[in-house]
Amino acid sequence: MNSSILNQNVTTLSQRLKTETASEHERMHQLMGQADVFATPEKYAQFTLSQYYFQQEIESLFDKDDVADLIPDLEIRGRSQQALLDLQDLSVEPQGSELQSKNVTLPAALGWIYVSEGSTLGAAFLFKEAQNRLGFSTEFAARNLAAYPEGRAKVWKRFVQALDDAQYSKEQQDQVIQGALDAFAYFGDALEQLDQLK
Ligand code: HEM
Repeated sequence: MNSSILNQNVTTLSQRLKTETASEHERMHQLMGQADVFATPEKYAQFTLSQYYFQQEIESLFDKDDVADLIPDLEIRGRSQQALLDLQDLSVEPQGSELQSKNVTLPAALGWIYVSEGSTLGAAFLFKEAQNRLGFSTEFAARNLAAYPEGRAKVWKRFVQALDDAQYSKEQQDQVIQGALDAFAYFGDALEQLDQLK
């Protein structure tokens, strides 16, 4: 019997993340619809500010504990620099924000990073909207929504593989999932308060 048959009833961490955070992902769609972030350059600038602060949260986790041992290609991930350049294009200077994930450690940190990496898949749609409705591009104001140079799907598959290779116990997986729920809650709050971001 080959190993794929043996493994077919095992739920992986990445499968659990997808299933157990699906309602939060759906909520992000609704919030994005309500925020209508491509309606005006001003709204889009506020959305880009939320992306910038979220990416700062995520990149601060890259330096923690053994995150780099589990996710070996962190240097290609994270988009805060791109978001900052986009903000410059939009004449917005971020005033700074206290890190809300500062006490997050492994395994929960992986859940936060999962939300950020997953959002690069949805960003394919958002990038097209930024292009079509606002005329933005990979060179102006929409760098933060662009695909990684290697392509979105390839970099995502490698991330998911790294999650599953961690061989986490059920309890550790539960903590990753809680981290992802916390990250979705963080970004949901940002989307609900876009007007107030500075
Ligand atoms: C309107 C906005 C969005 C659209 C249209 C969208 C769309 C998508 C699509 C098409 C996928 C791929 C699904 C698949 O391959 O099965 C995806 C995955 C994902 N998105 Fe979104 N998304 C949006 C917003 C967001 C936001 C704001 C976040 C988080 C901050 C997010 C987090 C994720 C995650 C974590 C995944 C990976 C799910 C998995 O485990 O396969 N998305 N999204």
